[in-house]
Amino acid sequence: MKFKWYPGHMVRARGAVLENLRLVDVVIELVDARAPFSSRNPEMKSILGLKPVLLVMNKADLAEERLTAKWARVFSDCGQPVVAVDSLHGHGIKKVPVLIEELAAPKITALIAAGRQARAVRCMVVGIPNVGKSSFINRLVGKRAARTGNLPGITRGRQWIRLKGNLELLDTPGVLWSSRDNQEVNFKLAIIGAVKEESIDVIETAGRLVEWLVNNYPGALADRYKLTALPAGPEKLLELIGSRRGYYRPGGAVDSLKTASLILREFREGLLGRFTLDFPPE
Ligand code: G4P
Repeated sequence: MKFKWYPGHMVRARGAVLENLRLVDVVIELVDARAPFSSRNPEMKSILGLKPVLLVMNKADLAEERLTAKWARVFSDCGQPVVAVDSLHGHGIKKVPVLIEELAAPKITALIAAGRQARAVRCMVVGIPNVGKSSFINRLVGKRAARTGNLPGITRGRQWIRLKGNLELLDTPGVLWSSRDNQEVNFKLAIIGAVKEESIDVIETAGRLVEWLVNNYPGALADRYKLTALPAGPEKLLELIGSRRGYYRPGGAVDSLKTASLILREFREGLLGRFTLDFPPE
């Protein structure tokens, strides 16, 4: 699966992340709980360096709960602090400030030991497009948070939001693409909506999705679209689903594009069930 990438845009976004990184104590890296491996920028480790990172598996409401717990164990076992959240409803969000303070504690203690004044912990959010950065920030900030505006000396032109527990959050998240030369990863990114719709082949993407579902969760399509049998091959499956929904073009053929868009949208909205596309390593 090939995408149209926008290299200039990506390089500028990466530059902005690097610039803001200097200002924060902790980075909150958002990944999609449905694809905790594929939705992680492969360069993240080298970009973030030794900066403490809290990994947030967002959209946990759309992922299979058992596999989210398994992924969380995998990350924890590698020494990576992690939390699963659902920014749409707010589940798991309360744990975030506590974990950020824990991660920043050594730095703040060192500042005090060096005779400097204790100060708020500064953090920023990074993640791939559409992973839920804005939704997460809105949840974390809540209604009562105050925007602090420019902090003297360090933040000209940047807005900081004061959070509960002596935290300050940069209000603009950093966007980093997960561009890999890997067909399997690209397919998953397309399915979860991390790639602009105009950059993907919608019919091919939906075709691969229905195949993946048939192989891994055979009941999902049958339940949602009331299918009594699953024909072999993605084209036949799309055709059957389209005919079930009455999606026909003038002339009588099934409208494959409309059917493919429907399946992708319903998958992304969780109407087909909760799925995790990346299986955790054993
Ligand atoms: P971004 O800043 O990283 O680009 O993401 P944003 O917050 O705009 O969220 C992208 C979409 O994901 C939004 O859907 C948002 O409601 C949804 N979303 C974010 N967090 C969660 C979550 O934890 N669970 C679920 N189920 N959905 C979440 P949208 O408004 O429909 O936008 P779009 O998908 O039409 O672009």
